[in-house]
Amino acid sequence: MTPTTAPAGTVPPGPADPVDMAAMRADPLAFVTRMNREYGDLTSHLGDGERVYMLHRPDLARHVLKDNVARYTKVNTPDDAMLRPLLGNGLLTSDGEEWARQRRLCAPAFRRTAVTTFDGIITDETHALLDRWRSAAAPGTALPVDHHLTSLTLAILTRAVLGVDLGAAGEGFGRAVDAANLFMGHYVPDPDPDPQDTALRRKGYVQARSFLQLVARTVIAARRTSGPAASQAHGTLMDTMIGELGDVELRDQVLTLIMAGHETTAKALTWTLYLLDRHPAEADLIRAELDRVLGGRTPTAADVPALVHCRRAIDEAMRLYPPVWLISRRATGPDVIDGYDIPAGALVCVSQWVLHRHPDHWERPEDYVPARFTGPDLPSHLYLPFGGGERTCIGRHFALFEATLVLATLLQAVDLALEPGFPVEPEALVTLRPRHGMRMTVTPR
Ligand code: HEM
Repeated sequence: MTPTTAPAGTVPPGPADPVDMAAMRADPLAFVTRMNREYGDLTSHLGDGERVYMLHRPDLARHVLKDNVARYTKVNTPDDAMLRPLLGNGLLTSDGEEWARQRRLCAPAFRRTAVTTFDGIITDETHALLDRWRSAAAPGTALPVDHHLTSLTLAILTRAVLGVDLGAAGEGFGRAVDAANLFMGHYVPDPDPDPQDTALRRKGYVQARSFLQLVARTVIAARRTSGPAASQAHGTLMDTMIGELGDVELRDQVLTLIMAGHETTAKALTWTLYLLDRHPAEADLIRAELDRVLGGRTPTAADVPALVHCRRAIDEAMRLYPPVWLISRRATGPDVIDGYDIPAGALVCVSQWVLHRHPDHWERPEDYVPARFTGPDLPSHLYLPFGGGERTCIGRHFALFEATLVLATLLQAVDLALEPGFPVEPEALVTLRPRHGMRMTVTPR
């Protein structure tokens, strides 16, 4: 699209009055969608005492995330304010030279080829979950599958990336992550309409943070004393960092990877299972693929390229329910986007929720159609489940490899169906999660 030139001093279209922040926070997905539908692809609104700019065209997203990346920073964004108290100065929150150093250090462990060495860990842990399902409940009993997937991806991540098994602490870890998310994801308006509720959530968050930091310290101490596990022929991420970082830096990095890496992947899997339940023909395609490619055998890394229906099911689930639904940046200096002045310090946001369902760019945008991922590559910066530009997710190869293997291993063994009448509704906190969880019945295939 050709950039337009706006008269000097005008701001991008948007509501004239400051937005009702309480209403916005009650349903941020409806808000970002409405802004786009009513005012267009480059909008602005007044919220929390500042003007916020929203970009919902692929070239505009690319402008901020890739082509002009030096002019935008994560520092002092709402994400930064939420995540920094918990994650300190790790890869997700650091900036400039410090970020570049950390990224260089971590990159080799996350290469596409490096992550394939973790196939055994991924399928072992998934089999352990299947065993727990078998022994925990009679076939057909509804289980909180979203929580179980969070524990699963946590167990996989700590073993594969950090080289340790959290064992029983895994369940508690999942609960602590929930408590941290619950506090971090809810802004507290001033004046606070429900101080008692906020105090309770803050207490839960502080406890959760201590617990998560304790787990991180324990993981580090174990690795510092025992060195790489003998059973691990390949290196872990910890191995590349352990000699380079001090205890606090390492704790921040460990917590960053654990927090950024397991909740997101668990949500991608949760939404995939939900959508497959709603679209039985797609689930049938996957089962046929599993029978054909694996014939009952446990999948390995070598099978992943052939599991195309599994992979498309996940890609399309992340289009409709992107685990990270909003990316924000601050302009480090003045910029001009599409003819509009973007002042220094401005908050600029791109929502994957809006881009991924944008009617100008997708056919039948609201429908679950995994086959749309069959064709040629999508236009740049239209599909951003892992972000874009140099701050793109470092764990994306790991996440896709893991999610494909978990999905294949689960659906090979069981049928999962949403509990009849269970309400499913997305809730946009730090990640996009099902507000009431996801209760599904698990029946052996
Ligand atoms: C389906 C799963 C995942 C999704 C949807 C996801 C999504 C994202 C997104 C959108 C960003 C960019 C945020 C921004 O630009 O502001 C990001 C960054 C990041 N992700 Fe992921 N992620 C996933 C899995 C993982 C895994 C498995 C790990 C690590 C084990 C991980 C670690 C990170 C880190 C460290 C960053 C910051 C990278 C940097 O700034 O250099 N993520 N992720």
